[in-house]
Amino acid sequence: MSSKRRPQIYNTVDDLRRFLNQTRQQGHTIGFVPTMGSLHQGHLDLVHKASELADIVVVSIFVNPMQFGPHEDFDAYPRTLDSDCDALSDYRCDAVFAPTVREIYPKGVNTEIDVPGLSTILCGHHRPGHFKGVATVVTKLLNIVQPEVAVFGNKDYQQLQVIRTLVTDLLIPVEIVGADTTRERSGLAMSSRNAYLSATERETASLLYASLQAIGDALQNDHQVTATLKHQREHLAAAGFVIDYLEIRDANDLSRSYVESETAVILVAAKLGQARLIDNLVVSLASR
Ligand code: PAJ
Repeated sequence: MSSKRRPQIYNTVDDLRRFLNQTRQQGHTIGFVPTMGSLHQGHLDLVHKASELADIVVVSIFVNPMQFGPHEDFDAYPRTLDSDCDALSDYRCDAVFAPTVREIYPKGVNTEIDVPGLSTILCGHHRPGHFKGVATVVTKLLNIVQPEVAVFGNKDYQQLQVIRTLVTDLLIPVEIVGADTTRERSGLAMSSRNAYLSATERETASLLYASLQAIGDALQNDHQVTATLKHQREHLAAAGFVIDYLEIRDANDLSRSYVESETAVILVAAKLGQARLIDNLVVSLASR
């Protein structure tokens, strides 16, 4: 007999809250995984982690228009609710929250959540307004679900920093847990946007992680870091990437001055064909 169970889908805030109030009355804790759907193993690993940390797991699937720029892929973004719920049946997921845009923005966007410093560097520089959209929707979702714990991927390193900062600043009573990046065998970080890659581009895309590793080695050995960075930028460009940034930063605050810090993070964002890919590698500098 299969233990598969499709999660219950809730489309409205009221219906989801009714369900969550009942479960809270039964003394259950709530774990939450916010997503934009088109679920892959990386998302499912977050769901698994949430199921280890809480009694009830809620996954939201909402393609948030506020975090897409005017010329970005909001319309093209893959929407696969049915197969997403199939995939979730293999995990302990009790509820999927799949609201309409109107449900989340009933009166449009009037109140915005902004984390100014972090939101204007790196991806924020290349995608103006993006993190304001992320911060606003994540705040709304945390208000709706009010989970004890919410799980996010380290894959979106800067996003996780923005979320940790807003949760601290707004005194939101939730534990934010970061989870490791799930990768293809080739090293390519799983992403819903990998669906935009052709077969050849998908092979090329694995160079991104190889570059991060090469820079990571240089950093850890404190050997030719600047030259390696320059070389990897040229190498990726020659392979067809259009690089938004490839940088080493302090892992704690994403400032440029990583040299004195215990942990650095190498972050990359680059376009390949139709896809904009991001990845990062955290490197401990303590043993240098
Ligand atoms: P989305 O890109 O769908 O990602 C949902 C969550 O999955 C994020 O926490 C992201 O970091 C994590 N994730 C994505 N790829 C991963 C991988 N390969 N390994 C591990 N985790 C991975 O990020 C968003 O949606 C949105 O910005 C959201 C936070 C839902 C707000 O709209």
